Amino acid sequence: MTNTPVLYCVSKPVLEYPMSQRLKILNIVGARPNLPKIAPLIHEMRRRPEIEPILVHTGQHYDEKLSDIFFRQMGIPAPHLNLEVGSGSHASQTAEILKRTEPVLLEYKPDLVLVVGDVNSTIAVSLAAVKLGIRVAHVEAGLRSFDRTMPEEINRVLTDAIADYLFVTEEDGVKHLLQEGRSRESIFLVGNVMIDSLRHFLPVAQQSRIGDELGLKNGTGWRRFGVLTLHRPSNVDSAEKLGHLLGAIDAVAAEMPVIFPVHPRTQQRLTEDGIRHHPQLRLVPPVGYLDFLCLLSKSTLVLTDSGGIQEETTALGVPCLTLRENTERPITISEGTNLLVGTDPAKIIAAARDTLAGKGKTGRIPPLWDGQAAKRIQFEYRFVKGTCPFGQFSLRWQMNGYETWCFQIDRLRPLAAPPGAERVRAHFGQSSIQGCR
Ligand code: UD1
Ligand code: UDP
Repeated sequence: MTNTPVLYCVSKPVLEYPMSQRLKILNIVGARPNLPKIAPLIHEMRRRPEIEPILVHTGQHYDEKLSDIFFRQMGIPAPHLNLEVGSGSHASQTAEILKRTEPVLLEYKPDLVLVVGDVNSTIAVSLAAVKLGIRVAHVEAGLRSFDRTMPEEINRVLTDAIADYLFVTEEDGVKHLLQEGRSRESIFLVGNVMIDSLRHFLPVAQQSRIGDELGLKNGTGWRRFGVLTLHRPSNVDSAEKLGHLLGAIDAVAAEMPVIFPVHPRTQQRLTEDGIRHHPQLRLVPPVGYLDFLCLLSKSTLVLTDSGGIQEETTALGVPCLTLRENTERPITISEGTNLLVGTDPAKIIAAARDTLAGKGKTGRIPPLWDGQAAKRIQFEYRFVKGTCPFGQFSLRWQMNGYETWCFQIDRLRPLAAPPGAERVRAHFGQSSIQGCR
């Protein structure tokens, strides 16, 4: 907390009138990966009396296993509102979120909208907010796969172009944002909030019974097993592509069970096209967060095309083969346990065999992935009201206490300033503003 602000006009103080008013932050979630990101942020905001957090769910994901179970397991408070947009094409889903968000923003009048990640809800709500002049904070800014065929890449680039505060998980993100012309003052390297959740919930996750339920334990402990997730449209929307990938997984499943929690997008393809798979590839419905974390932490090998799981395996020190041609999370490769193997079955099989032979990638935990990222995101806020020689004014200022100052003034409107009025400068904190008298 900073000291009470004092506003001076020239050298004469005309104001010392702080009003306590809470900073209203409207937080958005929509899809599964948003939930482990928002959880530590909401918990942190609720600890701070000067912040009033509001939570809105767009309803992009709605299945119990993709949404409600995360709220329960992570103690995320029920959303104030669910926009219930549901599924649809990119255009219709994005447009529906935009349309349904606007009246909510007008009603709640937040001081700030906070979005996380790279899903359609992230860009749609950001756009609705900035068009109403509401500031936007983007958590997990700056990641780039440089693959414009990925819907998430478009969402990232656009959200980062319009958000006011950009909170970044890894150094490359800062570089990308600067290259795209964002100012250094708007960028904050704070670490990875998803890893805050992982570190917080891992001890609870270790109590999960999922190992027994799936027969992954024997008398002496955990057996060797793998985990597979696939849901990127480029991998699962074509039956042929998905068939090739599952063909490669056969080689792994021949050696040990592979647990495959199936995303609904992937399930659709499997159901419609009846793709065959090895009997030791165990298809199960999406798994709740704690069970999934338990599985990841005990697995011998993870194969995935997920964004978040590349990070979680790096944080857990578990070898991960990413079945994609690119990644927006290069630090999981340069420092972590992730290997980008692509989607060529021969390469997947070779990399999996190496890992099973004990030659899996080792790594270390990236800087600032220490469970404290949410605490590094601070919004401080003052609302000040007063009079000056030409009438009443009010101003609001807001800053982020991490590393640098962000300073904004919404209004300073001397009423009926006469022509030729002398310009004066008002100072507070490390900043100053111009007025006239
Ligand atoms: C979305 C995100 C993706 C993220 C993924 C995480 C976008 C563009 N994509 O992809 O970045 O990695 O979530 O899981 O935002 N469905 C259900 N139940 C649900 C939700 C969806 O059955 O609760 C089915 C519907 O048939 C829907 C399909 O899954 O059409 C895809 O859902 P959608 O939210 O459009 O994209 P995801 O593939 O889930
Ligand atoms: N996850 C989960 N159960 C599953 C699959 C994933 O709890 O069956 C979690 C995973 O641990 C991570 C998040 O969901 O926290 C990642 O979501 P997803 O892979 O759907 O999206 P992406 O990160 O690719 O956007």
